[in-house]
Amino acid sequence: MVTPAGPRERGSRLARDRSVHDRAVNRRKITGVGSTLRFIPALLSAACAGREVNTGVPSILDARGPAADSIAFLWWIMLGLGALVLAIVGGLLIYIAVARRRQPAEVDEALIDEDRGRRWLWLGGVILPAILLPIVFFFNLDSLAALSHAARAPEVIVEVEGQRWWWEVRYPDEQIVTANEIHIPVGQRVELRLTSRDVIHSFWVPQLQGKIDMVPGETTTLWLQADEAGEYRGICAEFCGAQHARMQFVVVASAPEDFALWVAGQQEPAPEPADEITRRGQQVFLGSACVYCHTIRGTNATGDVGPDLTHLASRRTLAAGTLPNTRGHLAGWIVDPQHIKPGNLMPPTSLPAEDLIPLLEYLDTLD
Ligand code: CUA
Repeated sequence: MVTPAGPRERGSRLARDRSVHDRAVNRRKITGVGSTLRFIPALLSAACAGREVNTGVPSILDARGPAADSIAFLWWIMLGLGALVLAIVGGLLIYIAVARRRQPAEVDEALIDEDRGRRWLWLGGVILPAILLPIVFFFNLDSLAALSHAARAPEVIVEVEGQRWWWEVRYPDEQIVTANEIHIPVGQRVELRLTSRDVIHSFWVPQLQGKIDMVPGETTTLWLQADEAGEYRGICAEFCGAQHARMQFVVVASAPEDFALWVAGQQEPAPEPADEITRRGQQVFLGSACVYCHTIRGTNATGDVGPDLTHLASRRTLAAGTLPNTRGHLAGWIVDPQHIKPGNLMPPTSLPAEDLIPLLEYLDTLD
């Protein structure tokens, strides 16, 4: 029986098609990685096991927290008042058009009557805005106050640093470092301390809060609260270079006890390799240039240029929401990250298959 392809199958087919195209281009460009690229289709076939990258557009009107509720409320107020003005002006235009058709002479006379014209100007140009704008201003002040200050002290503090083009996420109290994923407990106040390592980025989770700039050398703060468990897509909302559009993250809101479990898991150092192939993979990692940029806690790798990989396998995406975190995509990323996300700071790593496969096995254990 033939069934229509589900999103996951379509995704993996797209990924396969792309890999075919990629290989054709790369064969001409990069002969050094050619031998490894031949193994990618096989690895990609395992890619459907992973989670999808959420590419849906999050709406500010689909609010899931008190701050976003306040923004959505303001949006509806402004839409309502704008619609009221449109209805009044449109209604008057229609009225004049209909009346002029019935009694053209009288209406023309009224239209050129200067006193009546002036009265309408005062009414529509001064009195109506003088009533409506203070109403909008009042609601705006209310929202601004609600957005800028948390009503009570934060229960969790998270530091987020914008990078070229990904997000380093640190929990100073819990001593956790991760990337491109912010886990928070549902119903609790979270204080975000935001900064940037390079240029100005902008932090935005439309379903939870308004956006705020991340400025190099400065710390801006924002509070977040999610009222429902779920995954909320976040994006960079300030143009920051070639891969601005591929600078995404996810906020994972879960029940406080699940959040506590996640914290405990992330606090663990990386597990020791348990078999021959993962031992070999760890040697490949520690013996290559990876260690200059990445940290795996519990090993000698302590680089801080790229994301901390101690719990890489627990994360949903690679390269800040660019790819689902699957073995196939990880292989493609390690071998030729510049093709996937041109201009990012990770150089290609030309590894023969006998090194790449153990390396992937090892990275897979970092959950
Ligand atoms: Cu970072 Cu746009």
